[in-house]
Amino acid sequence: MIDQFGRSVEYLRVSITDKCNLRCVYCMPLEGLPWLQRDELLSYEEIEQIVRVMAPMGLERLRITGGEPLVRRDVPELVRLLAAVPGIRDLSLSTNAVLLAEQADALKAAGISRLNVSLDSLQEDRVDRIARRPGSYPRIMEGLAAAEEVGFSPIKINVVLIKGENDDEIQDFAEITRKHPWHVRFIEMMPTGANLDLSAQQFISCTEVLHRVREIDKLEPVPGPFGNGPAEYYQFPGAPGTIGVITPMSHNYCDRCNRMRLTADGQLRPCLFGDLQTNLRDPLRAGEDLALHIRDTLEVKPERHYLIQGSDSGSGGLVALSQTGG
Ligand code: 5AD
Ligand code: SF4
Repeated sequence: MIDQFGRSVEYLRVSITDKCNLRCVYCMPLEGLPWLQRDELLSYEEIEQIVRVMAPMGLERLRITGGEPLVRRDVPELVRLLAAVPGIRDLSLSTNAVLLAEQADALKAAGISRLNVSLDSLQEDRVDRIARRPGSYPRIMEGLAAAEEVGFSPIKINVVLIKGENDDEIQDFAEITRKHPWHVRFIEMMPTGANLDLSAQQFISCTEVLHRVREIDKLEPVPGPFGNGPAEYYQFPGAPGTIGVITPMSHNYCDRCNRMRLTADGQLRPCLFGDLQTNLRDPLRAGEDLALHIRDTLEVKPERHYLIQGSDSGSGGLVALSQTGG
């Protein structure tokens, strides 16, 4: 799948639910969002059918996302279905790890090899404040420990930066990479409808992050772990892990974009932001050929996103990233 700007798309992020068991301040409003109804959601078999159409077109890698994917029942069952699709050679999962400890084994056995865990602070009281579901921290830590034990590799930790809230932990997060073979990735906060004030007032760029990490020790640019995402990676000399930065706001990386997104209700989105999406669910349920719809979506994949600090004009009416799978 090559788009009109010559980018090859071989990666699909599959959101399987819009719900989440946390309420991170930069993502979901405390009261939640108007959730999708059950019959609006793609079934696991429907997701598999879509992937079976896209794989021969060039799709090779899948990431399961949410909301929080592990709040949906029987995720390992979906993983087994997707792992059996010819051409799919990599399956990964993004999770907040709250429900990971009890499922890590089954997910690995089903075919998930790589894991991204969202963790914005190493301090329990702050996680309580940021994720707004007190009691989650010990479960997240158990989840991470289980992930390591089961042997997921690589494990990436995603840290969304919030000035005045967790930016004084940049160095603590960086130090983790000297102890664990983990890849800590700092992410610049992106504006959505639900976080406009926060993302305008408490934004901190990854340029600042690298500056602070370099105060600890020398940093060398490295290729980074398998995954081909938007992150750029660095490493302390001899450290087992790496430090990555994801810079949607300060340095646009859309020219390397290799992905599309499938929402939980079956909309194929050529870009995380903007209002372009193609309904695949209804044509699928009507027995139509999906390849045409997929080609059309690839055709209109925009050159870049048009996010502006303090505005939701570039987000295409997105209230929270949980609606599209981040
Ligand atoms: N800006 C940056 N990152 C975000 N995430 C969710 N919302 C935002 C936002 N507005 C992150 C989550 C997770 C990843 C999938 O996206 O914390 O790590
Ligand atoms: Fe690709 Fe859109 Fe993300 Fe840019 S914002 S990297 S075009 S998905």
